[in-house]
Amino acid sequence: MPDTTILLMRRDLAGHIEAPAWPGGVVVQTLGQKPERKLLQAAHAVLQPGYWEGGGGAPIFRQWWKALRRDSEFDPSLVFIARDDQGVVGLVQCWTSAFIKDLAVASRTRRRGGGRALMLTTFHTFAQRGAEHVDLKVREDNAPAITLYKSLGMRTIDRMKA
Ligand SMILES: CC(C)(COP(=O)(O)OP(=O)(O)OC[C@H]1O[C@@H](n2cnc3c(N)ncnc32)[C@H](O)[C@@H]1OP(=O)(O)O)[C@@H](O)C(=O)NCCC(=O)NCCS
Repeated sequence: MPDTTILLMRRDLAGHIEAPAWPGGVVVQTLGQKPERKLLQAAHAVLQPGYWEGGGGAPIFRQWWKALRRDSEFDPSLVFIARDDQGVVGLVQCWTSAFIKDLAVASRTRRRGGGRALMLTTFHTFAQRGAEHVDLKVREDNAPAITLYKSLGMRTIDRMKA
């Protein structure tokens, strides 16, 4: 299998950050302290194919939720879930260290600005929390995600082998 290169990308948070513009009919919420299992499962169902496309493995629901809620950097107010009248449109899950762990948008609603709005929401959130920057990792061959991140002012600060 060829070596995969992972990029570490960063958005500095000083200065203006554009306001998120949600696609029509989409609302956003955070996870909350006692999230409903139905919501979690719907969020995971969007994340799972996204993991494969993003180049990673996909944990089953129970493994995912168990690992997430036990992580010392987990904060339910840093999980943003976008929904419309058909269900979960997309989500972004961040660690408290101002790190974006996962981002995925359901294939039925892509290229409508949902991914961009989720990312901008995290930038505003971490800016309000006093962070100087937000980081994430992305596979170098994930062109859609990298195009999105660059359009949001993110830059590559490190490269590593997976
Ligand atoms: C990456 C992802 C989150 C983008 O979500 P999205 O809601 O479709 O993104 P947006 O509609 O907000 O796109 C904003 C901009 O990003 C870029 N972009 C998004 N998808 C793109 C694609 N498939 N090809 C090229 N550019 C793309 C474009 O510049 C786009 O603006 P435009 O539509 O006006 O041209 C989505 O494709 C996804 O869930 N992918 C699988 C999971 C994944 O790879 N996650 C990232 C792991 S690091």
